Amino acid sequence: MKLTLLFTAVAFTQAFAQDSDAWDQYHFSTWSPPGPSDVRAPCPMLNTLANHGFLPHSGKNISEIDTINALSTALNINQTLGEFLFQAALTTNPEPNATTFSLDNLDRHDILEHDASLSRGDFYFGDDHTFNQTIFDETRSYWTAPIIDVQMAANARLARVHTSNATNPTFGFTQLGQEFSFGESAAYILVLGDRVSGTVPRSWVEYLFENERLPLEVGWTRRKEVITFPNLIDLLERVVNATGIPLQELKRRGDFHAGL
Ligand code: HEM
Repeated sequence: MKLTLLFTAVAFTQAFAQDSDAWDQYHFSTWSPPGPSDVRAPCPMLNTLANHGFLPHSGKNISEIDTINALSTALNINQTLGEFLFQAALTTNPEPNATTFSLDNLDRHDILEHDASLSRGDFYFGDDHTFNQTIFDETRSYWTAPIIDVQMAANARLARVHTSNATNPTFGFTQLGQEFSFGESAAYILVLGDRVSGTVPRSWVEYLFENERLPLEVGWTRRKEVITFPNLIDLLERVVNATGIPLQELKRRGDFHAGL
């Protein structure tokens, strides 16, 4: 009897594993743009995950478990980092005691969303969340070789800061916004590329931003090693160091107005 139960349990587990593999595969191979009532974020990756269906395609009412599962299944991000990112996202939901967020909550300025984005306009100019090709072209012009390295990522980040500082009379960063902005540059290297060399093919990053789709058809595959919070911090610090300004100094300044 015990043996029968064991076999049943094993068979069930295997069937479930196969089904769940098939389901994951389905999400990698399906993609559709947002419909008229769907919402999207200023984040190219979250939009991508919603377009594939790893996150709810509506972009609405995303729970912690939705977030953890999507980041893990699609990108191999571990639970701790998934929880951290979800908690950050939750702070943008204006509802008291919310347990979910919607992608358009992330548009709210100066919570996580910040000025000098790589592919979005500043809040001051009226749209801080829609992909903007002109702005992205400025960013891309600092990725001067087919393989982006940490130095190019830092150069692109600083260039966008200089442009915003020169054109937006309200330009500024909160401390969190500043850290997030470096985290995003680290994230495209970490999630798409090689965390050890700190490099990523430019075509993969461009494809992600411009199509809001995983860059599978240009050769990207889900990273084999699990992605952790320390991995993100390590790359973030490498991008900051490549700016030539020590992290402590950036923290002390609190914004980028002075000196850059
Ligand atoms: C729950 C998880 C996540 C949250 C809450 C989140 C949130 C955000 C937000 C609010 C922004 C807008 C910042 C701005 O004003 O430019 C953003 C941008 C960005 N995110 Fe995410 N993000 C998440 C996951 C990821 C992941 C896994 C990646 C990996 C590649 C990523 C890559 C980026 C990049 C590259 C940008 C910069 C876009 C730009 O500057 O134009 N994000 N994210």
